[in-house]
Amino acid sequence: MSARVKEELKTEVEKLKQSGKTTGLAVVLVGDDPASKVYVRNKEKACEELGIYSEMHRLPETTTEEELLALVDRLNSDENIDGILVQLPLPEHLDDSVIINNIRPDKDVDAFHPVNVGKIMIGDYDFLPCTPAGIMELIHESGVSVDGKECVVIGRSNIVGKPMSMLLLHENGTVTTCHSHTQNLSGVTSRADILVAAVGIAKFVKADMVKPGAVVIDVGMDRDENGKLCGDVDFDEVEPVAGAITPVPGGVGPMTIAMLMRNTVTASKKHKK
Ligand code: GUN
Repeated sequence: MSARVKEELKTEVEKLKQSGKTTGLAVVLVGDDPASKVYVRNKEKACEELGIYSEMHRLPETTTEEELLALVDRLNSDENIDGILVQLPLPEHLDDSVIINNIRPDKDVDAFHPVNVGKIMIGDYDFLPCTPAGIMELIHESGVSVDGKECVVIGRSNIVGKPMSMLLLHENGTVTTCHSHTQNLSGVTSRADILVAAVGIAKFVKADMVKPGAVVIDVGMDRDENGKLCGDVDFDEVEPVAGAITPVPGGVGPMTIAMLMRNTVTASKKHKK
């Protein structure tokens, strides 16, 4: 599915180029978080595949707020750049929201700026955050209807859990958002027709937490006891119970990147006008 989305976008990027509009994405990575480095490299590769001009800004862990804001400012006014993505989490001494609030909303391809978050809440948006958007695409392309379904999201982060719940609600799901204070979690998750796990704990979702036939979507990027990449769902246990399930790696991750590319192309088209 991600390959198909990227293929479509490649054609659009080419068309824009022929009409004199290049498409550009700037990615900013501060410090050397190993997972973030991998994500950023994958974003760079996707840009190359699609013919999108990309700029990778790899800054040292010691970068100050002033320095980072100066870079964001420069990218905000750079006509070659349609999208700006500052990889999260930032090092402790930097405040995510100060940085995000300074990205121009029309270049905010993560849809993390309060203006874009507000637009999503209302249902009138330009960009959707990449991971929830990728999950909706997976659901649609699999022929699953959200309308009237019991949807349960485990996790309430600004990046995934909260916007995910909102998108499911927009499609008339009956949505429950679970978190660390939720009582009787497995009682809640067992009701779900569509279950999204975005909790960040390896193999957290077990077979007895899943309703037979449920659609199970795994957002986790965790390490198991042997240091091997795995998701928030115990895949081997849950796969026989689920009606459909996404693997880790190779499920939500590639869709997230494809949606980032889509947001960048959307921004480019807007800037062309
Ligand atoms: N860290 C984990 N996921 C994301 C994402 O989608 N965007 C950014 N900027 N940082 C992240």
